[in-house]
Amino acid sequence: MPRSLCQITDFTSEEIKQVFDLCAGMKKGEISPKPLQGKSVACIFTKASLRTRISFEVGISELGGNAIYVTDNEIKLGQRESVADAARVLSRYVGLIMIRTFKQSDVEELAKYASVPVVNGLTDLVHPCQILGDYFTAMEHLGSKDRYKIAYVGDGNNITNSWLNLATRIPIDFRIGTAANCTPDADLLEKARNNSDSSILLTEDPKEAVAGADVVYTDVWASMGEKHLAEEKASRLKKYQLNSSLLALADPNAIVMHCLPAERGREITDEVMNSPQSVVFDEAENRLHIQKAIMAFLLR
Ligand code: CP
Ligand code: NVA
Repeated sequence: MPRSLCQITDFTSEEIKQVFDLCAGMKKGEISPKPLQGKSVACIFTKASLRTRISFEVGISELGGNAIYVTDNEIKLGQRESVADAARVLSRYVGLIMIRTFKQSDVEELAKYASVPVVNGLTDLVHPCQILGDYFTAMEHLGSKDRYKIAYVGDGNNITNSWLNLATRIPIDFRIGTAANCTPDADLLEKARNNSDSSILLTEDPKEAVAGADVVYTDVWASMGEKHLAEEKASRLKKYQLNSSLLALADPNAIVMHCLPAERGREITDEVMNSPQSVVFDEAENRLHIQKAIMAFLLR
């Protein structure tokens, strides 16, 4: 079975370091591998996307390949035929499969039956490419430190869960400030607490989470697939808004991160998003570089 990236925990700490080295080399233009020369990549989207779609398509082209964008209208994954059969068929045509969908189990099933690498471009559970890119961005801005103090305020979602995954591979001091019923995945939280050198704090006090942090991260309060809960979540999470007074509690050199798209005025204010501390567009750019590195690593 080829290697895939369904979750960050599919990679060891050493492999993540190799991906970061590849990413840095490609971003600086020192290396430009073409592992997709003469190959195509199926990019399956059952949810909306700007960054993931465009950065994957550009990245695939820069690695010498050809991207085929498909929506679930065509594939109807798991309905028209089994996920396993779709995996077997796609593997006869393409050199890699990238998928953004709802169920993590669909991505794992695709990876199990595909004979080419599968890359998770976001599920309800995790968004591994995002957080690998975000950690790379944090390293660019913060340089070497013993371990970064990373505060996440807002809804405990696929982004929070991916930080928990990363915490099992890279030691971080991760603080989650969220409401009682908006907590991240319990299993991933337990694994991060029990199987890592990271420290994990879950608190209902956003100030406790942010105090002295090097990175202050937030994301939308209602993710794709749960936009019908937007008002309910907003009322639960409004004290977790990333605004200037909350940010003032972080380290004075702290960076502000958001995976985007942002709902300005909800989870993050314009003032914070536009402040010199905000690196949100660097994160967006690094999606391109990290995904090229992930694909090159999987196809090596
Ligand atoms: N951050 C991110 O994945 O953006 P898109 O939803 O636009 O792809
Ligand atoms: N948590 C958000 C991330 C979007 C990139 C969502 O799943 O909609």
